[in-house]
Amino acid sequence: MTLEAPPIPARALPVSARSPGKCIVFGEHAVVHGAPELVFAIDLHTQVFARSSDTTRLNSDPNAVRRNPYLRTALERAWAGGPPLDLRAVSRIPRAAGLGSSAAFAAALAAAFGSARGGVDRAELAQRAFDIERDAQGVGSPGDTSTVVAGGYVAINGGAEVPLWTVRSADRVWEVRRVSDPGWVWVVAHSGIPRSTGDAVRAVGRRLEAADGAELLAEFAKVAREGIRAVAHGDRAGVAELLRRNQELLREVGVSHPRLEALLDAAAPAAEAAKLTGAGAGGSIVALPVPGQETELVRRLARAGGLPFVVRPSAGVELV
Ligand code: MEV
Repeated sequence: MTLEAPPIPARALPVSARSPGKCIVFGEHAVVHGAPELVFAIDLHTQVFARSSDTTRLNSDPNAVRRNPYLRTALERAWAGGPPLDLRAVSRIPRAAGLGSSAAFAAALAAAFGSARGGVDRAELAQRAFDIERDAQGVGSPGDTSTVVAGGYVAINGGAEVPLWTVRSADRVWEVRRVSDPGWVWVVAHSGIPRSTGDAVRAVGRRLEAADGAELLAEFAKVAREGIRAVAHGDRAGVAELLRRNQELLREVGVSHPRLEALLDAAAPAAEAAKLTGAGAGGSIVALPVPGQETELVRRLARAGGLPFVVRPSAGVELV
């Protein structure tokens, strides 16, 4: 895997782009309110293929333009005035699972459109992918979209490296930095419970308005800051302890779920630690396997009714 992030080059249609999904290790939800977050791009991908056509359609469906808010926003923001497109999308990332399927779709569309319009650099692509996801979702941070654009491990509002780029919304600026890869394998497992990122983000926002909200946010930030440092130094014991603390905070703000707790219990004997990943309230967990116990961990999660995947860091979105 190369972590150099060259610009997306210009290509004439047809163009095909492939984006990884993502796994949040520390700091989901709190990042929306400006706290640090650690995320890595996972080797489950969404691929988008675009060629000119007489009408715009997605996987043969012309109504998708109206029904799919990510596609509609991507066309409005990154393909305005362009010719109709026949689009195909295939994905190995489970949908509404907290593993970045919408960020990957937004980034692959933005990369394909950017390429067909003369090429685009990563900083601009990260902003475009975020704008598409945020317009479609109504709320959120650029953590997911910047990670799938950059590839590898990424810190939002934290880390020690020179920023790769900054991403802006109307009321906030986030800094995005590379974090070195400790070379670990992770296991994620989808609970099968679909959830809405927007609803979960709004519910946590309300929870953080309570009297102890500022204190909770400060605790989320501390865990993520220490977690970024521990991952960068390859400190597995430190990371395991911080994963447990992060999960307690996520429970406290109300985004765990009985099915997620059941998966965390099932993972425990074969994992150094585990937590929910993404928006929660359903979706997925991430576990750091006891070395050598990866297969046993996958077996335990599958037996408990989860859909497990062994994941490793992936390069960012690219043309294929
Ligand atoms: C969703 O993958 C992560 C959240 O922090 C929302 C966001 O950052 O946009 C819950």
